[in-house]
Amino acid sequence: MQTNAVSVNNLSLTIDGKPILRNISFDLKPGETLVLMGKNGSGKTMLLKTLVGLFRPQSGSAEILGKNVHRLAHSELDELRRSIGYVFQKSGLFDSLHVWQNVVFALRRFSDLDDDALRAKATECLNRAGLKDVEDKFPSELSGGMQKRAGIARAIAMDPQILLFDDPTAGLDPVLTDAIAELIKGIQRNLGSAAIVVAHDFNLAYKLADKIGLVVSGALHGILSRDEFRQTSEPYFEQFREGKLTGPIPVIE
Ligand SMILES: Nc1ncnc2c1ncn2[C@@H]1O[C@H](COP(=O)(O)OP(=O)(O)O)[C@@H](O)[C@H]1O
Ligand SMILES: [Mg+2]
Repeated sequence: MQTNAVSVNNLSLTIDGKPILRNISFDLKPGETLVLMGKNGSGKTMLLKTLVGLFRPQSGSAEILGKNVHRLAHSELDELRRSIGYVFQKSGLFDSLHVWQNVVFALRRFSDLDDDALRAKATECLNRAGLKDVEDKFPSELSGGMQKRAGIARAIAMDPQILLFDDPTAGLDPVLTDAIAELIKGIQRNLGSAAIVVAHDFNLAYKLADKIGLVVSGALHGILSRDEFRQTSEPYFEQFREGKLTGPIPVIE
């Protein structure tokens, strides 16, 4: 049997007595893409952060590439993270480093490549992310869309088997959104990676998703195939898809 790329079982996270994630379970196979949707504050970002071990759940488990994330020793978690490309909601680039140094920040730590080889690798990743001649710029000199691309270039520098994208098109116009969607698909084809993409944009979701999960108040309300999602009249999914104010999804979390 093929191992799941990601396997989450009854994962719950509470912070200061407040439930943040409630009993979340899902599996993802290699090469598959799960798009997570849901209102602001529903818990999408916290789920991704918990999956990479930045938060420790009170109960349940998360396995990535067969490893139980929250049971690993520090060094083992470090090792696992090399297989995970994480594009943060805010680009998360270091302001004081040149773009190329940002892209190979992790690679520098984990490989013995010299500066010339690292720089060549950065150029390759930037090109794959659709950026040219930005190696020696600082992040602040790039437009918002270019910063997103630089964040993606950094995430793919280690050829990760797992890709996590937190709202990669937030604040981008429809044309750029489409370009980023194509970019993500191309990267996945190349690397064969499984991906979890937090998206607020239906175009992006429909372009990328094998399946779409709806997060409501820290719980994964359900996961549907993309085609099921587009057609379902299940009340939560329908309310979210149609953007209705009235329905079972609370307006305030
Ligand atoms: N670092 C943190 N520590 C404690 N609570 C947090 C932290 N970040 C977010 N939260 C809370 O977790 C909940 C889910 O937030 P988040 O995952 O950021 O939502 P989403 O990404 O779906 O918009 C919110 O109630 C938020 O206030
Ligand atoms: Mg978020």
